[in-house]
Amino acid sequence: MNGTLDAIAAKYKDKSGSAIPVLQEIQKAEGYINPESLRYISDKTGIPLAELWGIATFYSMFHLKARGRHVIRVCKGTACHVSGAENLASAIRKHLDLTEEKITSDDGLFTIEEVACLGCCSLAPVMMIDDTIYGKLTFRKALSVLDKYKTAENT
Ligand code: FES
Repeated sequence: MNGTLDAIAAKYKDKSGSAIPVLQEIQKAEGYINPESLRYISDKTGIPLAELWGIATFYSMFHLKARGRHVIRVCKGTACHVSGAENLASAIRKHLDLTEEKITSDDGLFTIEEVACLGCCSLAPVMMIDDTIYGKLTFRKALSVLDKYKTAENT
């Protein structure tokens, strides 16, 4: 991976205002912002580690933990909440052997997040996997969708 980091460092060395593009490229290469990679890039580019870390921890678009190949976003907005989203998130976590702290499945297939509103409240309760919305979910329907992703991964 240091080859990739070296390429990123070479591209942005001594360029001011490059912290955000550097972070974007690290995340694209590694799937998340690894603190070891930040240290490495900081040493190579001269961008202060505190600046990189401060930006990485401020913006929600940067992920500080390893993520699965598919990201499940369960809506916890008002319409979804009153339609049972909390129980839905719990059922998905249980199905994938996840907790509120352990958000990525052991097989690296799924990461689960709870989000405010996915903008399709009339379909509550809603989850989004990558860029696809699944609405009017029941536990059974949600778990069936997850199983389709698992099956697709194994074929
Ligand atoms: S509250 Fe869930 S999509 Fe809006």
